[in-house]
Amino acid sequence: MVLAYGFTEYGGPQTQSFFDVSLPPPGAGQIVVSVRAAGVNPADWKVRAGTRKDTVPVTLPAVLGREVSGVVTSVGPRVTEFDVGDEVFGSTATGFGGYTEATVLNASQSAHKPAAVSWADAAVIPVACGTAFDALHDLDLAAGATLLVLGAGGGVGTSTLTLARARGITVLGVASAAKQDAVEETGSLWVDSGDLWADAVAALAPSGVDGVFDLVGGEPLQRAASLRRPGAPLISIADSVAATELGGSGVERRRTTAVFTAVAELVADGSLDPAVRQRFPFEQAGSALAAVESGHSAGKVVIEFDHASEADPSEPGD
Ligand SMILES: NC(=O)c1ccc[n+]([C@@H]2O[C@H](COP(=O)([O-])OP(=O)(O)OC[C@H]3O[C@@H](n4cnc5c(N)ncnc54)[C@H](OP(=O)(O)O)[C@@H]3O)[C@@H](O)[C@H]2O)c1
Repeated sequence: MVLAYGFTEYGGPQTQSFFDVSLPPPGAGQIVVSVRAAGVNPADWKVRAGTRKDTVPVTLPAVLGREVSGVVTSVGPRVTEFDVGDEVFGSTATGFGGYTEATVLNASQSAHKPAAVSWADAAVIPVACGTAFDALHDLDLAAGATLLVLGAGGGVGTSTLTLARARGITVLGVASAAKQDAVEETGSLWVDSGDLWADAVAALAPSGVDGVFDLVGGEPLQRAASLRRPGAPLISIADSVAATELGGSGVERRRTTAVFTAVAELVADGSLDPAVRQRFPFEQAGSALAAVESGHSAGKVVIEFDHASEADPSEPGD
């Protein structure tokens, strides 16, 4: 049995608790990892609230979270890329969560962690960094183009800004004043997300922006769509249905070893800072999720696991 943190029924934070789960042996194409860090994402509380029942079916009680870094402790049939003792990160397999001492990953959605990448940074590559990477791939903007990013100071936003600037894209990052420095540190132009943000964008890009990446949804998404030049792409990961109605789309996620490896290399060589800004010990997993559920967290939130008393599985025993 391993200790996990999750929810016992659909609902609010009061449904969350610690409980023990038994891990089955890894199936074909799967690996079991001893978790070192778990990324915390808005999707975690949305699944708990029951708003993702159609796309993320769970069996109750369900473990929260969907991305981790850790050490491989067991390898299932037909896994050739990973061995026991490897340091890896990836997306949790269907039916498994991330806020737990050990979990199951699909080998095809996992990658080796470069030595230069911390456990915390690796844990947030699959969702936030990977989404930013995939969105820029889909937007396919040329150097010199202007990209409008709504929600620029959060988990996905911060990585998006860095990756877009590296492509030579001019970025208008809409965020609250608390995130001004974080936006400007990437070389992006900060636009205050107060009432006048759309006017500010129109003044900075009078012919319209060349692309929009929305992480907020609602009325800001509607306004942003009208700030595009004709034909400019629009992607929303907060409301892909509304984006489609506005002539845009959601993001096409590529949760593959190749993409995760490419992103990890950017982190390893210093090109991409995943912007982990808040770290919580596993015992405070509820506080970690509450920080994200507030909707106003800066950068990424990570849960860290203490394995100081555990033998390193890569070292031979006595
Ligand atoms: N489809 C996918 O694959 C996928 C992947 C990852 C995330 N998502 C979704 O994308 C959204 C963002 O995810 P995230 O991880 O970046 O969330 P996050 O870390 O919680 O960041 C959200 C950011 O939005 C900002 N914000 C809130 N209201 C705003 C407004 N009116 N104008 C501008 N900024 C505003 C918040 O900061 P301030 O309050 O300071 O402005 C915060 O920095 C969530 O809905 C999440 O579920 C989808």
